[in-house]
Amino acid sequence: MKTLKVLDLFAGGGGFSTGFLQASYPDINFEILRAVELDQAACDTLRSHIGEDRVIQGDITTTEVKEEIYTSCSDVDVVIGGPPCQTFSLAGPARSGTAEMRQKLKDDPRNTLYKHFFEIVDRIKPVFVVFENVEGMLSKKVDGAQELNNKQAQVIELICDELESKGYKTGIQDSISDRFQVLNAVQYGVPQNRKRIIIIANRLGMDNPRLDPTHGWDDKPFLTVKDAIADLPVRLPKISFARLDSLKNIDVIKNNYKASLLTFMNMLKDLAIKEVHCKQSEGVMELYSSLKEEYELIKDKKTYKMYNLKKFIEKYNELILKYSVNQFRDSQELCNHQSREHNFRDIIIFIKTKQGSNSARFMNHESDDYDRFLDSLYPYSRNKHKDTYVKHSWNKPSNTILAHMEKDGLKFIHPEQPRTLTPYEAQLLQSFPKEYVFQGGRNDQYRQIGNAVPPSLAKVIGESILEMSMRFEKINGVQAI
Ligand SMILES: C[S@@+](CC[C@H](N)C(=O)[O-])C[C@H]1O[C@@H](n2cnc3c(N)ncnc32)[C@H](O)[C@@H]1O
Repeated sequence: MKTLKVLDLFAGGGGFSTGFLQASYPDINFEILRAVELDQAACDTLRSHIGEDRVIQGDITTTEVKEEIYTSCSDVDVVIGGPPCQTFSLAGPARSGTAEMRQKLKDDPRNTLYKHFFEIVDRIKPVFVVFENVEGMLSKKVDGAQELNNKQAQVIELICDELESKGYKTGIQDSISDRFQVLNAVQYGVPQNRKRIIIIANRLGMDNPRLDPTHGWDDKPFLTVKDAIADLPVRLPKISFARLDSLKNIDVIKNNYKASLLTFMNMLKDLAIKEVHCKQSEGVMELYSSLKEEYELIKDKKTYKMYNLKKFIEKYNELILKYSVNQFRDSQELCNHQSREHNFRDIIIFIKTKQGSNSARFMNHESDDYDRFLDSLYPYSRNKHKDTYVKHSWNKPSNTILAHMEKDGLKFIHPEQPRTLTPYEAQLLQSFPKEYVFQGGRNDQYRQIGNAVPPSLAKVIGESILEMSMRFEKINGVQAI
């Protein structure tokens, strides 16, 4: 077995590396020789998966880190990585022109990370380079999608020029001019729409592989949210109630007190029935039965409604712990499958929003999803973004999982359960293996997951490089490395 040695720059929690380690081709595979990353939690994750000694923790721009890379990675065959995308927010004015863009790319201090990536490539001179970044990596200030696409394409072309000037071929097979590919992860076995720009470059003088989709046909359809997370145990959120009275629009709940409680109880009943039916643990049924007693006591109260609602929530919070439907106590298994805390208003919004719908639609009188109650409950400004709440659909791929989930997850509402997605669900929607464990607190985990190249996409990229390497050997009778 021959092994190509990989250096993963800006490695995050290891999505790119994981996919490369999964890549298989007869008689050849990859080894992650080193992964370089700044963030503590991400480094801890990397260490637990690729090994303590293979992680260089530090700032790529510093001389010490570079020296460590040069000392340990002189015989690296492949450099993979994507400098963080804000590095490229350089488009600014609508002026174009390749010379000007080139100068701006070089001069803009925000682009230092990009420069360091290529400085390291130039020094190590690996046979293969894979550069990844988000689609739309240029400033979103540019007006008009066409303009954005043109400018974006220009910057990518400049990056390709840079690689070419260092002796790499970036051209893609069966094409006269294509040098980069925009790939949607959903077409490569990831249950998520996620577009990424990929440049593959090599020093062998070979045309680079075009990555044909593996999914999206009748006999191999796109994977869905259901495929990825439906068989996980139910997780119910803790409900915050400390500032319940001052929550924006909580009066709407107060004025619909009985109906709101019933909405909540019906949701629990549906989950409980389903859970028993699926022969999972019966925690939700027990929770529902116990909470029903409290519900019967308070549902018809005409006064002190907020006081009673708080008591109800307190009881619920006790019960989710008692019946272990909030987290797995005494168990490391599925330890990252735990929900954030939510307030009662948001929980009612989560339940009543239709699967696959969002707040822009439930506030739009013209939409089939219009809902007067939800419209009056919406607590945010309506002038800017109306799609604050987005509920996922079982039968579709998920929306792009974002690092922003570390701030809030309102765009990632579970199709059925009254909460946003857990880190573990986000990890599965990103195609990380079930046994992969992210280190750090919950927000660190969301950030690492949202930033990652989906392993299933990275695997396809990796396999195309293994295949290219073997093809070179076959054609030339000499080894690529
Ligand atoms: C988009 S994420 C990379 C995700 C990764 N490729 C994956 O597949 O999981 C970019 C990473 O670059 C790291 N980073 C940013 N500046 C850095 C620097 N100066 N030195 C090292 N790492 C840096 C960030 O902490 C972040 O984890």
